[in-house]
Amino acid sequence: MTLLDFFRSILRHLAAMLIFPSTLKHLGVSPKTSNAEVTVVKTTDDMASLDTLKEEVMRLFRYPCTMRRMLSMSSALRIQYKAKLQESEACMLPSYCHTMPTGQEKGTYISLDVGGSTFRVALVELLGRDTRPHPMVIKRMTSSKIDERIRKLPSAQFFDWMAGRIQDMLEQEETPLISNEPLPLGLAWSFPIEQTSRRGGRMQGMGKGFSCHQDTIGMDLGTLVEKACAGRQLNIRVEAIVNDSSATLLSQAYLDPATSMGLILGTGTNVAAYLPTSCMGKSKFGTRDPAWFEGAEKVITNTELSMFGKSILPETRWDELLNLQHQLPDFQPLEYMTTGRYLGELLRLIIVEAVEMGELFHGVMPEPLLERYSLDTEILARLEEDKSRNMTDSVSVSVIQQAFALKVPPTLREISFLRTAAESISYRASAYIAVAVHALWALQRDADINPAASRGKSKTSIACNGSVILKYPGFKDRCEGFLQRMSKTGSLTRVFASPKIVLQATDEAAILGAAVAVALADVP
Ligand code: GLC
Repeated sequence: MTLLDFFRSILRHLAAMLIFPSTLKHLGVSPKTSNAEVTVVKTTDDMASLDTLKEEVMRLFRYPCTMRRMLSMSSALRIQYKAKLQESEACMLPSYCHTMPTGQEKGTYISLDVGGSTFRVALVELLGRDTRPHPMVIKRMTSSKIDERIRKLPSAQFFDWMAGRIQDMLEQEETPLISNEPLPLGLAWSFPIEQTSRRGGRMQGMGKGFSCHQDTIGMDLGTLVEKACAGRQLNIRVEAIVNDSSATLLSQAYLDPATSMGLILGTGTNVAAYLPTSCMGKSKFGTRDPAWFEGAEKVITNTELSMFGKSILPETRWDELLNLQHQLPDFQPLEYMTTGRYLGELLRLIIVEAVEMGELFHGVMPEPLLERYSLDTEILARLEEDKSRNMTDSVSVSVIQQAFALKVPPTLREISFLRTAAESISYRASAYIAVAVHALWALQRDADINPAASRGKSKTSIACNGSVILKYPGFKDRCEGFLQRMSKTGSLTRVFASPKIVLQATDEAAILGAAVAVALADVP
């Protein structure tokens, strides 16, 4: 770099601070600004301003991701977790599952997996951990898309639609499964509920665009499913209901006893963790039979992790804007910065700014991106997949031209801007997920919480499920890398010898885990 270039670069940074006052926030100067207040000043150095914004995006998203900052965020989160373990009706929700599977549970069960966009019904056979090659077998499965029409169905019709899909699956079986004895069924539910027994729970707000909670809040979910099935002469009994994160944990724990957490990162995010009951306030358990507590040293806990992180995880001005425009501002801070539903929207907001500056797409916002949430996270993944550095072999050029309906192909400079923004957004997302998971891992080993912390246990396996963690290029490995470094660098290493955290990819974990939950329900 020549001396002239050096001074130019300093001037550009100073200009960026004037244009984007929130840059100063991270220098500890002025903490409050919103995108709406930003005055757009075009610099004379037009060629440089897209690059300046690119550098700024990179800097702001990567700023929190140093080991020192990540460890300090993790400690702060652990304090939030501890507080919510004492009192909260919304998160750190203990289930009724207090034993982990031994891997010896056997049987055939009907399993349901109600996700944000897919409903699966399966007949699952558990054969035992040592059965090779398949300890768990999906004997039959049907998968139905939950589109906008289904999402908006009122409860009676939604549960009848579910019962219809269960009926379809059962009718495909040659040997009729319906007899006088009710068929045992397990349900993985990707929404919060207030669990009242292993097989029941009160409906809560569902989010993710669903309507069927509106006339059922407080009603028992198990009864709603059973009634809908009875309406179609299906003799089933709901034996277990688990959150999708708990189902993921159970399915992997069936195979590997080192598993003590289940992480979901797809449209939404959540973690189920196996935690000591003694670390939770009395009110967390509602009214339970005293006999339950006798056997319950630890319990699978639905953390509803997405709700944590406010005022701990630094936000950029694009996060502030997304939050401000959200139906439920501040409701799920971690989710808004890490999941499939939001990564695309963050990129879209950055694009809006670059277009308004007149620096991208000749200052015209592409038609398909005008609506909020119109940029699919898949596009970020495609940009990151493409490692080419020139126009001739760049897949991104055609991907972007098509997805954004551009009349002329994007320039290499524009592609490079978009790619850097995608990389920055996903880099921070993997760091924040690592921070939130590390804080839970440390909580499990915290002597205050868990006096009998498994000091000898050097390996923690975290079962992973969901499109972002399983499919987004490089995401899981980067997240695991962060976790490894954090666990080694953190002060806990002084107490525990070289801990190892493994992110274990799973396959059909929610549906399999629901079957494991039924098998466990047989255990008194
Ligand atoms: C949302 C739900 C949570 C679920 C998660 C992953 O955050 O609140 O219950 O586990 O999405 O599907």
